[in-house]
Amino acid sequence: MKSFLNVQDLGNLHTALAEAQEIKQDRFKYVEMGKNKTALLVFFNNSLRTRLSTQKAALNLGMNVIVLDVNAGAWKLETERGVIMDGDRSEHLLEAIPVMASYCDVIGIRSFAGLADRNYDYSETIYNQFLKYSGKPVFAMETATVHPLQAFADLITIEEYKTSQRPKVVLTWAPHPKSLPQAVPDSFAEWMNAADVDFVITHPEGYELDQRFAGDARVEYNQLKAFEGADFIYAKNWSCPGVTNPDKYGQILDDYHKMMDWTVSARQMAVTNNAHFMHCLPVRRGMIVTDDVIESPNSLVIPEAANREISATVVLKRILENL
Ligand code: CP
Repeated sequence: MKSFLNVQDLGNLHTALAEAQEIKQDRFKYVEMGKNKTALLVFFNNSLRTRLSTQKAALNLGMNVIVLDVNAGAWKLETERGVIMDGDRSEHLLEAIPVMASYCDVIGIRSFAGLADRNYDYSETIYNQFLKYSGKPVFAMETATVHPLQAFADLITIEEYKTSQRPKVVLTWAPHPKSLPQAVPDSFAEWMNAADVDFVITHPEGYELDQRFAGDARVEYNQLKAFEGADFIYAKNWSCPGVTNPDKYGQILDDYHKMMDWTVSARQMAVTNNAHFMHCLPVRRGMIVTDDVIESPNSLVIPEAANREISATVVLKRILENL
């Protein structure tokens, strides 16, 4: 695997899920595989789970790990071609990428959407520059439009906790005070569409996800109706994807104070099939979900975060197998 961005990059999902369970039984089974190989993890944005779980995954495989926080100690990077660099950006990404690549065998990238230019974000400009100019395998640690390590961990978690062959999984929008990217819901939708689940998306009108991720998933604008009989509730905020309203891309469409009935609470969970609650974290309590729901025995937020180590180990193993 030379690039990990989308669900199809992992190939057969049943095989990948079986591999995840194999690794979960013995995290160090392939510890010899990464000997004398170095993973470079490049963060343009903050992280807790991705930073720790991906490092742990690399260590599980016997790799060396270097972590670079671009905005904390490195030269400020220019990312656009054709600019006169007379501002505070001292180094261009097009030199920085091959230099970084010369010190490692695999590169992980975290670079969020800017939410100003839909075409720039949805072209995955930064990720694709790393892919093109590094000459090394590259994997997404949440890019402008996707967070596949999270979605894979979410799928592993659903497989572990499902009690029926084809559970009903609902992705629900929830309120947030800031504009957030669409990467997590995009990937979750993409991966659920590829999995054997009954998948429903619910959000206020105007937040329709891009077709390449939402696919043929059922969209239900009535949140309570969407929750009926659900086995898993996956909550997340996202800003306007600009599908039906391109001029609103990256914006919050209504003041969040008016949208608080979308906060996941006991009221909505009561109509589910005793559903498990999921969220990728970090989560704002009282906005996305109430304390009682996230603290309930049905909340999977901790096991799902723990599975990030497993999803990352599988992905890095696949990359090492093809070096
Ligand atoms: N879920 C997730 O990616 O968490 P971090 O942003 O803390 O890495």
